[in-house]
Amino acid sequence: MTGDQTIHRAAQIIKKGGLVAFPTETVYGLGADAFNPLAVARIFEVKRRPYFDPLIVHVANPSNVEKLAKETPSNAKKLIEKFWPGPLTVVLLKEEKIPDIVTAGLPTLAIRMPNHPMALALIEECNCPIAAPSANPFGYLSPTTADHVRDQLSDQVDLILDGGPCPIGVESTIVSFLDKRPMLLRPGGVSLEEIESVIAKVEIPPIENRPSAPGMFPKHYAPRTPIILDWSEKNLDLYKDRNIGLLLFQQPKHHLKYHPVEILSMKGNLREAAANLFAAIRRLDALHLDLIVAEPIPEVGLGRAIMDRLRRAASRGK
Ligand code: TXA
Ligand code: MG
Repeated sequence: MTGDQTIHRAAQIIKKGGLVAFPTETVYGLGADAFNPLAVARIFEVKRRPYFDPLIVHVANPSNVEKLAKETPSNAKKLIEKFWPGPLTVVLLKEEKIPDIVTAGLPTLAIRMPNHPMALALIEECNCPIAAPSANPFGYLSPTTADHVRDQLSDQVDLILDGGPCPIGVESTIVSFLDKRPMLLRPGGVSLEEIESVIAKVEIPPIENRPSAPGMFPKHYAPRTPIILDWSEKNLDLYKDRNIGLLLFQQPKHHLKYHPVEILSMKGNLREAAANLFAAIRRLDALHLDLIVAEPIPEVGLGRAIMDRLRRAASRGK
């Protein structure tokens, strides 16, 4: 099949109420027609996701926001203009016609326009907004390749579109515009610095206290293997006799001979590290280690999103 035929088939599946996993620039999504409540219900079943955790709706054109949201504050407009298509999700008051199951009964809607040719072609061909969470079982790491989706959900998804590895590698940044001050609900692919260069200061609620972000559970993005964020070269021998793997931000000064090692970016580049993050954790998770010891990452730019995911992965079981 040509690319166009594959997209056409995927769109037919969505229009008939099926589920299609598709690539975006951030992570793979598990999509259904946002206006088909039964299809959306299947997303929750397949992911084993609690119904109180709302979904992001994906559009192929910024002009669709007006049709789905009651109003778009000027700060939201500015961010949309600057960062769409791209890894930014805005939370706005929703129009009544959006099924409650999509927004978990909230009066608000999370919307984004992804920056990936396959995602955009799919949404355009379906001619409907696509509700899609990340295409992973609830609580696990998001998939950044089609194989990640196949490994975990293949028998429950009607079609998986393979667009290669996701270039950004961490999920979209979520900003809510319901309060006077815009609020950062999830750090992600657009950095806080980039956002604050366009609009004034953004509120950052503490990680354990985000009532308006129902899906932001402290323990999330968790591999089966426990992770601790405790690596430094001073600890070089501390874990010598243990069955551990190392998740390093950049090339270590010393040769590390005892353990499997994943290096997110040899030169310590945050973009490269984000793009490699979930695949690297998955590879370590497949080794049946007792523990993954991760190196903390500087919390600037994309480093914020990476540390957010690592902290959540590390709080597994707490
Ligand atoms: O990059 C991404 O955003 C990916 C790709 C597939 O687009 N999607 C993604 O979806 O990460 P998901 O479902 O894994 O995460 C969406 C997050 C959840 O934490 C959810 O609670 C939050 O967005 N969310 C959705 N609707 C919301 C709303 N109305 N108000 C506040 N938070 C919302
Ligand atoms: Mg997710």
